Amino acid sequence: MNGKKLSCNSMTNQTTLFLIMFFVFGSILSTTVVASSFLRRSASLTVKDSSLTSPDKTFSCGFYSIGSTNAYYLSIWFTNSNDKTVVWVANRDKPVNRRGSKLSLRRNGVMVLTDFDGTTAWETNTTATSNVDRVELLNTGNLVLKDNAGNILWQSFDFPTDTLLPSQLFTKNKRLVSKVGSQMFGLGSFSFFFDTDNVLKLVYDGPEISSIYWPDTQLEAYQNGRTNYNNSRVAMLDDTGMFSSSDQLQFSVSDVGDVHVRIKRRLTLDYDGNLRVYSLNESSGFWYITWQAVAKPCDVHGLCGRNGVCVYTPDPKCSCPPNYEPADLTDWSKGCNPKFNRSCADSEFVEITHVDYFGFDLNRSRPASFEECKQLCLGDCRCLAFNYRLTGEGMCFTKNSLFNGFRSVNFPASIHLRVPRSVAQTMKPETGFDVSRLECGNEQSKVVELPITYDTTIQRFKWVYIYAFASVIGILELVLLVAAWWFLYKKHGLSTSMEDGYRAISNQFRSFSYNELKTATGKFKEVLGKGGFGAVYKGILADERAVAVKKLENIFQGEEEFWAEVSTIGKINHMNLARMWGFCSERKHKLLVYELVENGSLDRHLFSTQTLVGWKERLKVAIGTAKGLAYLHHECLEWVIHCDVKPENILLDEDFEPKISDFGLAKLRQRGSQGSAELTGIRGTKGYMAPEWALNQPITAKVDVYSYGVVILELVKGIRLSSRVVDDHNDLEDISELVKIVRLAKSKMQNEEDSWVEDFVDPRLEGNFSRYQAGIMIKVGLSCVEDDKNKRPTMESVVHVLAECEDEILMSISGTS
Ligand SMILES: *[C@@H]1O[C@H](CO)[C@@H](O)[C@H](O)[C@H]1NC(C)=O
Ligand SMILES: *[C@@H]1O[C@H](CO)[C@@H](O)[C@H](O)[C@H]1NC(C)=O
Repeated sequence: MNGKKLSCNSMTNQTTLFLIMFFVFGSILSTTVVASSFLRRSASLTVKDSSLTSPDKTFSCGFYSIGSTNAYYLSIWFTNSNDKTVVWVANRDKPVNRRGSKLSLRRNGVMVLTDFDGTTAWETNTTATSNVDRVELLNTGNLVLKDNAGNILWQSFDFPTDTLLPSQLFTKNKRLVSKVGSQMFGLGSFSFFFDTDNVLKLVYDGPEISSIYWPDTQLEAYQNGRTNYNNSRVAMLDDTGMFSSSDQLQFSVSDVGDVHVRIKRRLTLDYDGNLRVYSLNESSGFWYITWQAVAKPCDVHGLCGRNGVCVYTPDPKCSCPPNYEPADLTDWSKGCNPKFNRSCADSEFVEITHVDYFGFDLNRSRPASFEECKQLCLGDCRCLAFNYRLTGEGMCFTKNSLFNGFRSVNFPASIHLRVPRSVAQTMKPETGFDVSRLECGNEQSKVVELPITYDTTIQRFKWVYIYAFASVIGILELVLLVAAWWFLYKKHGLSTSMEDGYRAISNQFRSFSYNELKTATGKFKEVLGKGGFGAVYKGILADERAVAVKKLENIFQGEEEFWAEVSTIGKINHMNLARMWGFCSERKHKLLVYELVENGSLDRHLFSTQTLVGWKERLKVAIGTAKGLAYLHHECLEWVIHCDVKPENILLDEDFEPKISDFGLAKLRQRGSQGSAELTGIRGTKGYMAPEWALNQPITAKVDVYSYGVVILELVKGIRLSSRVVDDHNDLEDISELVKIVRLAKSKMQNEEDSWVEDFVDPRLEGNFSRYQAGIMIKVGLSCVEDDKNKRPTMESVVHVLAECEDEILMSISGTS
């Protein structure tokens, strides 16, 4: 009995001990968990304490310092991103000290951040809320103050800084304000907000000016796809990556997916003024861009300050016009100062092509001639410059301030800057043609790096973004298909505008199945042509778009690489480049789907005995092709060298507007190639190949300039120079022989002006051409086929020269007729 009791007692003791231990450890465990996502009333947090962490560990909240400074910010950040990306800051303009600063939840319900000396750096507006219970960091990244019943009394989501998180409502009177720089939390000059007309906008708000740059201010709200009738002013990015707003701005990020994938995203107004959505790659810890508001960085206003000009090099940089110098090289927002004294009397104009300054028009759009426009500016002492556009009746814009300057090859006009006559005379450009003028603007203007560009992480991980984009295209596709099916068959009462929205998305670049393309082309029946990469077939898609389907041969790339390359090409969009609508990659089948360009390729027209291409068309082709190449070389996000420019790759639409095809494909070959056989595949076509190919020198964009030179000479002469050259089996020497002949002719006839040109122009034109224009084209051609690649102009400068002479030709044609 006794013994039993004893043993029974000891059992109880053991159990008690176990239970005690369980509770002790359990409570230790639970207090640490609780402590890390809660802060109770009367408790406080200091720099030394560990930070609060959301239950799923995505976000942390605590004291954050930049670099090794003593300045601390109460912040919320992504725990697992490499640079601990901050999404919210309480005390943006009042950092606190390392020692003695603390965050406390006071008994009266106020959350206060105090500095070392007890001064308040920041506090919540929750006074006299005696039933406040705790501060809690939620899984969404929202820091909330709750009462005993769990009601939210205050939340960080109501006070965004420069970032919006998924599910965070963006409403009336809220603003995202950019940072000053990547490592500075201070208030920058760019903001994102609902304007008084109910439309979401991006504005530059600098010390001197304030200027809205997104959406396009020259268009009405509805033309930008917005509405200003809905005054509820609310917007949100949801968990799947869809953004929607009461002003009808709607977009989905490139890796949009269902909620269960749970990609971590943020919408941030970056310090370069662009609004972007980023997704986190959880394995690498880096962010990749999945959407951005402004496609061309120089379209952001205020970047380069007063008189400054944003240029693409191809990265966006700030530069000063001739006779101006940077005010402060460390801060481009201060702009450029003139090196001369302005005076109203005795002034002249200096033309800078393809440059404009946005806004500040004294006088706009009044139909005028160039001379009238000039006089208008001269007659007004406030006028600093004018911009004249020869569209329709001629438009004149006189400017009283020069801000938001940009240069773009595609901008069809020039700015004429007012300078004192003495200054203008010292820098008058040579009359007549001079190759050095091709580099116009670059030499005189100092180009200095913009301090404001993308985060370096973004630059480095562009590839990551592209891979992600490609691999998620599949998911996107599925979602769209399901959505489309659902909308079409389940929801009959849907408004048409919404249906259009979905159609627009599904019409964008996508992947096709092999069967789909087989059906579209009628089992690859009609061959349009055969190129270096394989045959091209005509097809009609299910939505009745006519397409050209290119069946690629000998592509040895891995699936992912192929997707990545092709989706980069798919994003390039320019009127002189053939648009790629999608691709197919199924095992060995690799196909590309292009828009169908009606008129076929240039060689069929130019070298044909049946048809004659008129002079105007030839010039159009020369300019358009140059613009397309300039875009590839200088302006698109990932710049591209074509490597195979030739008439076969220049397609013509019904108006003879050229569209370059096959760009970007060189890379497809390059990567997978093993051995020299494939190498010739990317070397372009004999007769159009720059000498660098043969000499094993590094390949730059100048190889395209060379090929373009051959093409433009062929355009003038109307015969295939390249084939003549190839037949003689010694291509390099022969083209240079030709060059020699023309140069000689040119120098001999110097005094007789342009008469040497006649001998070189296609006789079939029977004199119906502009001699001046032909002269320029030949000179451009000759400078492009220089053996020394450094002597060849850039495509951008070729565009400048040809565009200038296009106007000239208009004059001479109208003069003769
Ligand atoms: C205004 O926008 C909100 C949010 O997008 C929407 O719920 C509401 O129906 C819209 N109101 C009108 C009148 O369209
Ligand atoms: C994430 O990064 C890893 C490692 O750098 C990379 O292999 C992977 O493809 C990336 N995933 C996505 C979705 O970008």
